[in-house]
Amino acid sequence: MSKLLLLTSSPREKRSRSTAVAKAFAEACRKARPELEVVEKNVFEMDLPPFDGYALQAKYNIMHSRVHTPRELRAWSAVERLIEEFAAYDFYVVAAPMWNFSIPYRLKHYIDLICQPTYTFESLPGGAYQGLIQGKAATIYARGGSYPENTPAAAFNHQSPYLDFILGFMGLTVDASIFVEMTLADQITREARLDAAMAQAEELGAAFCS
Ligand SMILES: Cc1cc2nc3c(=O)[nH]c(=O)nc-3n(C[C@H](O)[C@H](O)[C@H](O)COP(=O)(O)O)c2cc1C
Repeated sequence: MSKLLLLTSSPREKRSRSTAVAKAFAEACRKARPELEVVEKNVFEMDLPPFDGYALQAKYNIMHSRVHTPRELRAWSAVERLIEEFAAYDFYVVAAPMWNFSIPYRLKHYIDLICQPTYTFESLPGGAYQGLIQGKAATIYARGGSYPENTPAAAFNHQSPYLDFILGFMGLTVDASIFVEMTLADQITREARLDAAMAQAEELGAAFCS
């Protein structure tokens, strides 16, 4: 049976546009592939361990072939559990609001925990990298403003370029992206933008897992 991770990163629950569109996308996937198991997680509700000095030292121990102390090993075991859980899917739908032109800190915390050498990526000779997990990803973005390509506003967008990049860096193929923009505009504009994104989610979601 194929598994899809629906990973959301807004704490706004039912008010969240990124979550609403991501859920519609995942539901369209499930309709197109009824045996698909969809697992939903929100980074604000996950019990994320701190990425503290012990976990960091363990990361450097691995990079420099050093042995962990018991405390470092304990910290690293929690990181390993998260990575193992993240790598267990065939499909990924990752939703992110724009916060200060980037992604919410809690999603960055999760990425800092799971993006680890020898687990989710490896270094190749000559300075290149290779992702070590496999799967197909879709990214769903919500923003209060609008950041169209080939406009000066595009330079402020550190949200979608970063998230698409880091998912690809770990080996995932980002196959579809949906943007819900102008979520802070007047009611007519924001409802029209949301409706358009929901329609896109139904269409792209139906094709995503087939
Ligand atoms: C802390 C914070 C920072 C934000 N920063 C930006 C920003 O830099 N640019 C922008 O266009 N919207 C910004 N917004 C607006 C959100 O991107 C917008 O409300 C979006 O719909 C949030 O996604 P959600 O509906 O899934 O929670 C910010 C909102 C919050 C709460």
